[in-house]
Amino acid sequence: LFNSFLAVAAAYLVGSLAFAVLVSRAMGLKDPRTFGSKNPGATNVLRSGSKPAAIVTLLLDALKGFLPVFAVRMWGEPYGMEEGTIALVGLAAFLGHLFPVFFRFKGGKGVATFIGVVFGINPWLGVATGATWLIIAFFFRYSSLASLVAAVFAPVYYLMGDNIAWNAHANIAMTLFIMAMLLAWRHRENISRLLKGTESRLGAKKA
Ligand code: G3P
Repeated sequence: LFNSFLAVAAAYLVGSLAFAVLVSRAMGLKDPRTFGSKNPGATNVLRSGSKPAAIVTLLLDALKGFLPVFAVRMWGEPYGMEEGTIALVGLAAFLGHLFPVFFRFKGGKGVATFIGVVFGINPWLGVATGATWLIIAFFFRYSSLASLVAAVFAPVYYLMGDNIAWNAHANIAMTLFIMAMLLAWRHRENISRLLKGTESRLGAKKA
């Protein structure tokens, strides 16, 4: 149990690394918390005009969700870590991104980290969720809408794949569901902008 506690704490700390802020700082760009949607996330870094910075942010924010989950899944068993720990570690990394200890608990909306956690749980589940994001983003050009749809579908895919592609576990299903709810809550302003038709589209520089 102590090992699991350490893994969860480590995942939270890793999740707290707000890469949108760190990458922008390293690349000499404006702090993403000061313009656009003011969100420290890859979408808003893209609004600074730097595609490379947005891509690096996306990859690192996803990696910090992926690595803790993957590590526990691969090497956790001898230390008594099973699905319950996998679920908690994923949730901890995600919560780190939303409420980062290093940034006065003011974090992002969790999309990249969510996708990373999903890939860590199962690569095919990750592909399905990532593809959902891409398809919605391609047709509608709203990052937020793509994120909301992908987040809602991830737990649905997970349950649909049970006994076919994997054996679903209640703890992991619960974590996916909780993350999707938190992600939607963090997008409440985006949701009202989407409903009003004022949400900024991908590719447009203004928020
Ligand atoms: O990555 C979060 C995305 O879904 C929305 O970001 O900056 O448009 O609020 P943003």
